[in-house]
Amino acid sequence: MEDFLSRVPQILKRAQASAEKIKNLADLERFFDEFLSKKSAVSEFSKNLKNVPADQKKEMGAAVGKLRDALLQIFESLRDQLEAAELTKKLETEWIDVTKNFPIRNGALHPVSQVQEQVEEIFSSMGFEIADGPHIETEWHNFDALNIPASHPARDMQDTFWLQRDGENPNKNFVLRTQTSDVQIRKMLKHGAPARLIAPGRVFRNEDVDASHDAVFYQVEGLLVDKNISLAHLKGTIETMLSRLFEKETVIRFRPGYFPFVEPGLEVDFRCTLCSGKGCKTCKNTGWIEFMGAGMVHRNVLQNCNIDPEVFSGFAFGFGLTRLAMMKYSIGDIRLLSSQKIDFLSQF
Ligand code: PHE
Repeated sequence: MEDFLSRVPQILKRAQASAEKIKNLADLERFFDEFLSKKSAVSEFSKNLKNVPADQKKEMGAAVGKLRDALLQIFESLRDQLEAAELTKKLETEWIDVTKNFPIRNGALHPVSQVQEQVEEIFSSMGFEIADGPHIETEWHNFDALNIPASHPARDMQDTFWLQRDGENPNKNFVLRTQTSDVQIRKMLKHGAPARLIAPGRVFRNEDVDASHDAVFYQVEGLLVDKNISLAHLKGTIETMLSRLFEKETVIRFRPGYFPFVEPGLEVDFRCTLCSGKGCKTCKNTGWIEFMGAGMVHRNVLQNCNIDPEVFSGFAFGFGLTRLAMMKYSIGDIRLLSSQKIDFLSQF
């Protein structure tokens, strides 16, 4: 064992020298075999400790322990360094470019959503609230409250998807709303007058689908109820809205129209923005484009919503947002809008 004590510095020196030559984990493994494995000198010494005379055991034990610790320290610090280097190398060399060979496409808003955002922006700046209502509506909100009685042809005029129709009670019969005018009712019932809102949203009609008709499309409803409101306010509001939307002075004209919930009722056209009224294909040579239904809110409708028609008056309008988007972007077929064709949609 004397012999062992004298060999300790020598073993350490050898270990340090071979540690300096270690370049990779395989070298490190050889280092471990030589200096720390069961076959190593340290392990031999530990095993032989039991043969050491009792009075020398403590000193010997401490010396063996110290040597093992020193060797372990060399080993562990080298292992940490090599493993870190190995990982860095892996990260640098073994990576995949997941975007390679894949065309990158930016997402974009649907053309109808784009026009909806613009319309909302313009009306918001004029103090209109943006409102919404449920797609599943009672017969009462969709028809009765809007002054469309049960026997009225207007109920058939808008080909209705009935969800439930098994009784006389219009509050218990349900439809997919055929128009956004139901939101007028919901808002006036809840908040009374004055009211100033637009309600963009989806409406449903049981129609045959072709290039200009779809069973699902978007409308924007408008309602302004206050004291002393007249058609002049409607004209100013719509001309301002269209001029800002088309970024060009746009004028409108009124024609008589019929909707049971307005009196007088109007059809509103705007002067063709393409030919400035001279006549072209888009306006079918009339110089005007049919735009929306509108009018002064019928007194029965105000009364149905507990608003006094002697005190308040208002205008209402409804236009096709889908049609407006088609006009704005010259889209010829309405079916493209719901086609989910990326090539088509990514043009806008
Ligand atoms: N709701 C009508 C339609 O869908 C449009 C409209 C709204 C007309 C408001 C007048 C007033 O055709």
